[in-house]
Amino acid sequence: MGCSRSLILFINLAITSNLVALIIAQDDDASCTERADYCWKCTDGATYTPGDMYQVNLKSLLSSSSSKTQNNYGFYNSSMGKHPNNVNGIALCRGDLSQDLCQACLNTSIGRVLQTCSTQKEAIFWAERCMVRYSYNLIYGIEKQYPVKYVPGAEFLDNPQPFQPVLDYLLHNLSDRAASSLKKFAAGHATVPGAETIYALVQCTPDIDKKNCSNCLKESILEIERCCGGKKGGRVLKPSCSFRYEINSFFLPTANSLVDIPASDPAPAPKEEKKKSNIKQIVITIVVVLVAFVTILSSICIFLRLTKRRVKLDEDENSKEINLVESLQYDFETIRSATDDFSDANKLGRGGFGAVYKGRLLNGQPIAVKRLSENSEQGDREFKNEVMLLAQLQHRNLVRLLGFCLKTDERLLIYEYVPNTSLDHFIFDTNNHEHLDWETRYKIIGGIARGILYLHEDSRVRIIHRDLKTSNILLDEDMNPKIADFGMARLFAIDQTQGDTRTVGGTYGYMAPEYVIHGRFSVKTDVFSFGVLVLEIVSGKKIGSFRYGENEVDLLTYAWRNWREDTIENIIDPVLTASSRIETMRCIHIGLLCVQENVVDRPTVASVVSMLNSQSLALSVPSQPAFYIYHKTGSDILTLTESDQS
Ligand SMILES: *[C@@H]1O[C@H](CO)[C@@H](O)[C@H](O)[C@H]1NC(C)=O
Ligand SMILES: *[C@@H]1O[C@H](CO)[C@@H](O)[C@H](O)[C@H]1NC(C)=O
Ligand SMILES: *[C@@H]1O[C@H](CO)[C@@H](O)[C@H](O)[C@H]1NC(C)=O
Ligand SMILES: *[C@@H]1O[C@H](CO)[C@@H](O)[C@H](O)[C@H]1NC(C)=O
Repeated sequence: MGCSRSLILFINLAITSNLVALIIAQDDDASCTERADYCWKCTDGATYTPGDMYQVNLKSLLSSSSSKTQNNYGFYNSSMGKHPNNVNGIALCRGDLSQDLCQACLNTSIGRVLQTCSTQKEAIFWAERCMVRYSYNLIYGIEKQYPVKYVPGAEFLDNPQPFQPVLDYLLHNLSDRAASSLKKFAAGHATVPGAETIYALVQCTPDIDKKNCSNCLKESILEIERCCGGKKGGRVLKPSCSFRYEINSFFLPTANSLVDIPASDPAPAPKEEKKKSNIKQIVITIVVVLVAFVTILSSICIFLRLTKRRVKLDEDENSKEINLVESLQYDFETIRSATDDFSDANKLGRGGFGAVYKGRLLNGQPIAVKRLSENSEQGDREFKNEVMLLAQLQHRNLVRLLGFCLKTDERLLIYEYVPNTSLDHFIFDTNNHEHLDWETRYKIIGGIARGILYLHEDSRVRIIHRDLKTSNILLDEDMNPKIADFGMARLFAIDQTQGDTRTVGGTYGYMAPEYVIHGRFSVKTDVFSFGVLVLEIVSGKKIGSFRYGENEVDLLTYAWRNWREDTIENIIDPVLTASSRIETMRCIHIGLLCVQENVVDRPTVASVVSMLNSQSLALSVPSQPAFYIYHKTGSDILTLTESDQS
């Protein structure tokens, strides 16, 4: 069992903590502002405390680079302080800028990076015209291609076929020139026959040598497809090099040069193909090694089991499953001490089905423990089976169920701990909701949709959540949403297939009318709740406590009225800036489609996800939402007993 447990632990580690996903995500793991005028990556890990030597050194280093007078081709390199508080910094302006413009860009960027990456010891910050980078490690003269940020332009090309080879040729030509130059910079343009003129600019930090610069740029050019395939413009940003192309001139004309495209063979030399995506190769190698490792480990486990362990007679033939259950079962004492005997100080709150406590396992892993309060008609064996099934549902937008614990009259569920509490603490909080910008809200909406899609269609069993609401959407440290409390109906042996149920569990306001009235649920009842969530996220208003002027109406009616009267602005949370209105309006539109009274008219989550992914997908016109009268019941949870079975 020790062996299988460690194997499962390892697989969990590899899959759940998204090791594989992390490696792949390194492709593009920096963040940008909504308009992508600034992008950054603060390396997690090492931090400094405000006021310490590292901060003092960092500040003096950065202020010296923004005020240096001599022109090093717009490149500043310095280090400050002694080990362990030494800081190394690099700042670089776009090669075409004058000294004044360069200083101005560095000035603002330094202010912003210190604000954005407060207390992180290592950071990189790319503005449109300059870049700032610092670290406690040596960075001077070392080629570095991570982190990467791909910034595709907004518009698509009408005809990408002839565009791509010209762009490729132009970028290769400029890269060769930049690598050989002192400044490590080149800009120019080339014309697609009978079509667009492409303007491009490539640059390396001048501290790296010719070969390194050329290597960095050429690998970046191979990533164009992934970054900006079919787009009219784009940027690939790396610590050691970057390039940008647009169909309008975006740099100072003094830097410009014409690049002729040879008529015969505009495509870059085919030998480049061989190198195609080094990163992909690395990822594949790592995945292969991981798989090989798991295979070897499992072979050893199986071998050991076959030779050493006598197979118990009464053991089920599917011992694999039993081992899985074993690996999911936690000892009650372990959980009791992890939560400090379920102390009030560790109580995170009370959700449906019981109180939730924060805990910490002996190995330091933080957990959330749900202590089920309600009686279940289910026996231990069924309960274990359900937990096993739910623990195998793994998606980045679901809170992961790590295991369970059984003790005479106690049933506990052990979940991963999600640090940022739930969405309602942000969206409805007078102080917090101002910090929830549109970019974050949009990310949350998309994540919830993908989580539901997984539950409805992509997991082994179809799970209808039945209680989607803001307090069931938890947020991780990067504000990624994670759906909590899924599959509770299964654990309580409530019929889970589409149909009618006698006991309705859910939260008033989020429940579709057919569910409230007839207890009839389906994937479309979840879609209804999702629509309510979207409207709450966009408006910053609670479905249940909606107030508008003297006439108190509910959020759905209010949204519908403004939609019909073409005053959609009224629905949008006033703290949201006007910059992404089209996206915001589209979300309101999608929300209204989801809350339509007629079940058949509501889209599936799969189509909601496509609507969110593709802005060009036309949306149908919503019909009237289900009409709601909100009753102020004392409790959040409503339980109706079905009487009107039809
Ligand atoms: C840049 O900094 C490194 C490390 O401090 C130093 O070795 C190097 O000489 C500096 N180069 C320039 C051009 O200032
Ligand atoms: C940079 O900022 C400082 C104040 O933070 C200011 O005194 C200085 O004039 C600025 N320099 C430029 C070139 O904008
Ligand atoms: C690039 O830099 C590394 C050290 O950072 C060095 O080992 C390597 O030889 C350089 N050249 C190339 C082409 O990678
Ligand atoms: C880049 O293009 C220019 C103009 O067409 C040409 O003169 C130059 O030789 C090319 N450079 C490289 C390195 O391909």
